[in-house]
Amino acid sequence: MRFYVGSDHGGIEMREQLSDLLQDMGYEVADSFGPSESGESVDYPDVAQDLCRALLKSEAEDIATLGLLVCGTGQGMAISANKIPGIRAGAVGDAFSAKMIREHNNANVICLGQRVLGSELAALILQTFIDSEFAGGRHDKRVTKIEGLAQNS
Ligand code: RB5
Repeated sequence: MRFYVGSDHGGIEMREQLSDLLQDMGYEVADSFGPSESGESVDYPDVAQDLCRALLKSEAEDIATLGLLVCGTGQGMAISANKIPGIRAGAVGDAFSAKMIREHNNANVICLGQRVLGSELAALILQTFIDSEFAGGRHDKRVTKIEGLAQNS
C-alpha cells in the first residue's frame, strides 16, 4: 500500500507523527505535502489539491494508494478534497467511522484534525482505516452515484 500524506500549518505535527507510524508499519510514504515545521502558513485547498492529484496518478497506475490529510479540524481538507473527481474523503473523529468510510464509501482519503484529536486516537483511527476494505455489493452503485454527482451537477 502506498500513502501520500499532507497537512497545512495546523496539522504538521500529526502529519509527521502518522507518517512515521506508517513507515514503521512498513508502508510506503511516497510523498509528503505541506509546510515543514517552519511556521509557514499555507492554504489547505492547495495542499489537498496537490495530494489528490498525486494520489489519482498513482491509482491510474494501478497502485493501491491511500491519502492522509491533516488540518486543524480535518474539515477544510475534506471539503476541498471532495471537490476533486475520483476523490472520496472523510473527516473522521472515531474508529467506527474510519471503518465505515472504507467499507461503505470506498474512501481513498482520510482527513484528521490535529486540534481535535489526541495522537493515540489519531493513530487508532488511521490504523482502522487501513485495516478496513471496501465491501462492494450494494455499496458499489452508491459510490458510482457519488461520482455521477460531480459530473451531472
Ligand atoms: C487553519 O488555521 C485552519 O483553518 C485549518 O487548519 C483547518 O482547520 C480548516 O479546516
